[in-house]
Amino acid sequence: MNSELWKPRKVVIVGAGAVGSTFAYALAQSGLADEIGLLDANHELALGQVLDLAHGQAIFPPVHIPEAQAADFADAHLIVITAGSKQRPGESRLALLQRNAKIIQDIMDEIVRQNSSAIVLLVSNPVDVLTYVAQKRSGWPRGRVLGSGTVLDSARFRHLLAQHCDVDVHNVHAYILGEHGDSELAAWSMTHMAGMPIEQYCAICEQCDDWAKSRREIAEAVKHSAYHIIDYKGATWFAVGLALTRIAAAILRNQNSVLTVSAVLEGEYGLSGVSLGVPCLVSQKGIERILEAKLTPDEQSALNRSAAVLREMITQLDLPGPG
Ligand SMILES: NC(=O)c1ccc[n+]([C@@H]2O[C@H](COP(=O)([O-])OP(=O)(O)OC[C@H]3O[C@@H](n4cnc5c(N)ncnc54)[C@H](O)[C@@H]3O)[C@@H](O)[C@H]2O)c1
Repeated sequence: MNSELWKPRKVVIVGAGAVGSTFAYALAQSGLADEIGLLDANHELALGQVLDLAHGQAIFPPVHIPEAQAADFADAHLIVITAGSKQRPGESRLALLQRNAKIIQDIMDEIVRQNSSAIVLLVSNPVDVLTYVAQKRSGWPRGRVLGSGTVLDSARFRHLLAQHCDVDVHNVHAYILGEHGDSELAAWSMTHMAGMPIEQYCAICEQCDDWAKSRREIAEAVKHSAYHIIDYKGATWFAVGLALTRIAAAILRNQNSVLTVSAVLEGEYGLSGVSLGVPCLVSQKGIERILEAKLTPDEQSALNRSAAVLREMITQLDLPGPG
């Protein structure tokens, strides 16, 4: 192959903690990327993760895993931001948000300074607010800056539905919309099992006596699943690492996959001034298109409430303008 024509598919992960390193591990196994750079404010952590992963290179599909520098933003295809600060003792959620928003703004400034042509994927929480902050800070077209949104929540939803109905999860299509957090909603009108709308499948399912009650319980369980994992082991990292690999595949392979990433809305679903999880076609351009599904009035009201929660957080932020 002519080496001058060959361009490595390069992913830079900013934040090499639990989520960033697990994503790097899953991505390396997938064979989707030729280079996975890890960058962390804690240089020794980044080096340690790089060495640990590098020792798997004889076993992974071919992939180069170096410590990344800011200059690597320039020719990256995809930059995934998992960097964040943990809550300090006595610190309010708003003060933490303020600090993390500043971290994201600084990272975006550096990405823009490097004249990067990458797609930027936000993961750090609260992911919807930080996606909005990052997109506004960059001034880039909104499709190029997206958040992991409710992709993980939708995977949890599909898993719980599959378990409940005793059907292979790959035969379940279902989406969680809105905030990646407490105000998210299950889009029941978009839920299909074996190609049938869920209510139709329910008539032949034979797995429960009270579907209305099960529906409520499943939607609540999705919402609370992260809390349970955090109670048991402090944080979550495996499933989110896989969800990020799924989004990376859609971008690096130009798949036009339907994923509920966090998208900055400009009138879609009657909403604007906010970023939240809605079904999008995801391709090499990032968000190729936001898909406007016809929600039921109850679902639309729940989405409006979720947007209001996020807008309130954005309004509370006191951020410096472009520096
Ligand atoms: N969106 C989702 O679905 C989802 C799921 C799980 C976790 N998360 C979020 O992902 C984030 C990371 O979680 P984690 O468990 O990996 O945390 P972690 O503390 O293990 O890792 C965060 C890393 O970011 C680094 N960092 C901080 N500031 C930086 C900067 N300016 N530049 C580069 N690196 C910097 C830290 O040194 C640390 O290593 C958190 O905000 C968490 O809430 C999101």
